[in-house]
Amino acid sequence: MRVITQKTVGDASVLEVAEVAKPVTGPGQVLVKVGAAGVNPVDTYIRAGAFPALGEPPFTLGWDIAGTVESGEGFEAGDEVYGLLPFPGTGGGYAEYVVANAADLVRRPSWFTVEEAGAVPLVALTAWQTLVGRGGLSAGQRVLIHAAAGGVGHVAVQIAKARGAYVIGTASAAKHDFVRSLGADEVIDYRNEDFTSINPVDVVLDTIGGDYAERSAKVLKPGGVLVSIIPGNPGFDVNRASDLGIRFELFGSVSASGTDLAALPQLRVQLDQIVPLADVAKAHELVESKRTTGKVVLVP
Ligand SMILES: NC(=O)c1ccc[n+]([C@@H]2O[C@H](COP(=O)([O-])OP(=O)(O)OC[C@H]3O[C@@H](n4cnc5c(N)ncnc54)[C@H](OP(=O)(O)O)[C@@H]3O)[C@@H](O)[C@H]2O)c1
Repeated sequence: MRVITQKTVGDASVLEVAEVAKPVTGPGQVLVKVGAAGVNPVDTYIRAGAFPALGEPPFTLGWDIAGTVESGEGFEAGDEVYGLLPFPGTGGGYAEYVVANAADLVRRPSWFTVEEAGAVPLVALTAWQTLVGRGGLSAGQRVLIHAAAGGVGHVAVQIAKARGAYVIGTASAAKHDFVRSLGADEVIDYRNEDFTSINPVDVVLDTIGGDYAERSAKVLKPGGVLVSIIPGNPGFDVNRASDLGIRFELFGSVSASGTDLAALPQLRVQLDQIVPLADVAKAHELVESKRTTGKVVLVP
C-alpha cells in the first residue's frame, strides 16, 4: 500500500510517498481502507521535529481517519466508519490502509461525506472534551471561542450552540458570515476590535495561547472557566487563575473515543481543501499558514 513517510524532520518537503506492507490487526482492532485523513496543526509540529511525539523518523503522520472496514473485530467488513487514532500513539493515518481500535471508531453518520468525516474527529473531540468535559458548558451560559473559523473553532461554535449557549467567536472580518452561519451570536474582528470589550462570559476556549489567556481572563465572570488547548505556550497558570477568582483548565491532549464521537450533535464540517495524498506537502503548507477556514483533508 502507499503511505506518506519521512526520513528526517523538517519542512513539508520531507514528506514522501512510499510503498509498504498493509498493517496487521490485533485483538479489538480493525483494518480500515482509508477514504480520507484529516490534517491538523499538530501533524506539522511533529513533522518538523517541534513535538517529538513519534520519536525518530521514519514515521507516518495522521490521526484523523474515515473509511471502510476491511476486516477485524467489532465491525463488519464494508462498514463505513470514522474516528481518531490513539494520540500520540503511532500515527499512520496518511496511508491507504490503517489499523484502528474498534472502540475509537463509530459508524459514519449519514450527514457526513467520507471527506468531512475524515476531517473532523480530532477537532470535534477537542471541542467536546474541552467545552463539555473541562468547561462544563451548559444551556444559557455565555462562551467566547477564539479562532472560530478554524478547525477546532468552527465545530466548537456548533457544539456550544447545540448545548444552548450564547456564542461569541473571534475571526477576521472576511470570515464573519461563515462563523455566523454556524450559529454564533456575535463575531469579533480580532484584528480591528478589542475582544476584551465584550460582556462577561462563563467559559473561554483559548485556541491561540500567549497573551490571549491573560486577556481572555479579563472577560470571565467570577468563577468562570478558561480552557486552553495550547499546552506548549498557555501564557497562564492555576496560580494566576486563583488570584483572579476563575478556574483554569490546561487541555494537554485530545483523547481518541468512539463514545465521545457518538455523543456529538450533528455537525457541519467546512472543508477548506481536499488534497490528494501525494500532494501532502501542499496540505501541510496550507495548515501552516494558519489562515485556513475549517479543515484540510487528504484523500488516497
Ligand atoms: N491540546 C490539544 O489537544 C489540541 C487539539 C487541537 C488543536 N490544538 C491547537 O489549537 C490550535 C488551533 O487548532 P486548529 O486546528 O483550530 O487551527 P487552524 O484550523 O489552523 O486555525 C486556523 C484559523 O485560526 C484563525 N486565527 C489565527 N490567528 C487568530 C487570532 N489571533 N484570533 C482569532 N483567530 C485566529 C484563522 O482565522 P483568520 O484567517 O480569520 O485569522 C484561521 O481560520 C493549534 O495551535 C493546535 O495545535 C490543540
